[in-house]
Amino acid sequence: MKKFLNLGKQPFANKYLSKKELLSKKKEQFYELQIGFDVKSKLVSILNTVSSKKMFDNKYPYRSSMSLTMRDSFKELSVFIKKKFKPNLILEIGSNDGSLIKHFKKDKALCVEPCKNLAKITKKKGFKTYSEYWNKSLAKKIKSKFKKIDLIYSANTLSHIPNLDSVFKSISYVLSENGVLIIEDPSLMECLKKTAYDQFYNEHIYVFSLISIINLMKKHNLEVFDVKKLKTHGGSMRYFIKRKSNKNLRINKNVQKYLNEELNFKIDKFETYIKFRKRVEVSKQKLIDIFHSLKKRNKKIIGYGSTAKSVTVLNYCKINNQIIDYFVDTTPDKTNKYMPGTHIYIKKYHKNLLNNIDYIFLGAWNFKKEIFKKEKKFIKKGGRFISHIPKPNII
Ligand code: TYD
Repeated sequence: MKKFLNLGKQPFANKYLSKKELLSKKKEQFYELQIGFDVKSKLVSILNTVSSKKMFDNKYPYRSSMSLTMRDSFKELSVFIKKKFKPNLILEIGSNDGSLIKHFKKDKALCVEPCKNLAKITKKKGFKTYSEYWNKSLAKKIKSKFKKIDLIYSANTLSHIPNLDSVFKSISYVLSENGVLIIEDPSLMECLKKTAYDQFYNEHIYVFSLISIINLMKKHNLEVFDVKKLKTHGGSMRYFIKRKSNKNLRINKNVQKYLNEELNFKIDKFETYIKFRKRVEVSKQKLIDIFHSLKKRNKKIIGYGSTAKSVTVLNYCKINNQIIDYFVDTTPDKTNKYMPGTHIYIKKYHKNLLNNIDYIFLGAWNFKKEIFKKEKKFIKKGGRFISHIPKPNII
């Protein structure tokens, strides 16, 4: 593993602090966020991982249903899955609050969600939910009860689990002979192109590329038979995977096409990552300059979308509650809390909170379109947004 980026001391993303925690003598925990490239497997990963139990507990705040973009994306996918694969039983690993699974019949779906607060939501809706981490022992338990699982879906979850060999071994163990595995995660090429260094934080142990997924699948007698590019999470990839032995499904031309795109981009070369690091350093300085010059002119700045991504940016660029007055967010378990590390207060979103604000830092830049549409009034009144993607800029 060759290191190429150091994003400094970072708090745990998604560990929003209550007032009590903020005032407590117990010090907030930090870790050194370093990122590396495995020359052989082509995997990009963070170098010092935090235990899953510490990250995904019974208070995990993230909800996948908080944006129209994600709700629409899951709905569309559910229609596609039913039409194309007609699964008798679908298993979702990392079902969160059930945004995808709710489109399936209760007797045709299983959820795996270790965060108990989220598992409660799908359980309440009547879905069989295992509130456990995805591993071999859970796979055994599931297989003994449900013989054939013909579709496994996992979005933004497998990249959060350190031991990928165990992840895919367990998947291969429960997947039926002609079964299909669909995974989706942020795309490494998009992350590099957009200088979106905020895709890196403790939970995102890996940022996958097609080439790294192809290499990984080889080890497990699985293969990618189709790929789709998605707009979600700032640019994601959806990988369709089958057993090598399954000849019923053809390999789509997209696989080679997108692989060539990555190779042309030199995603397999270490020099690409060194260039990325240089762009990250320039991006940091530019963003700091923007904030400082606005503050010098006494502009009032708030943040929109207290994302895990913005935790990386703000801590790396040392932008704290002296610069950003507060964040607004719709997520119930984030509001009335403080951003990790920078201690910026998070208010429950209300459109009036944008009154008399000059600039808004777009923490949820991946929902720019949706947010700009929603905040037409703010823009019309002369309000401006600050975004660091693809380059720090005022829009
Ligand atoms: P997301 O970009 O999915 O997060 P992360 O970097 O944490 O993985 O999260 C988007 C955040 O923005 C989420 O906290 C909800 C919030 N949000 C709003 O408050 N209002 C909105 O209109 C939208 C689209 C998102």
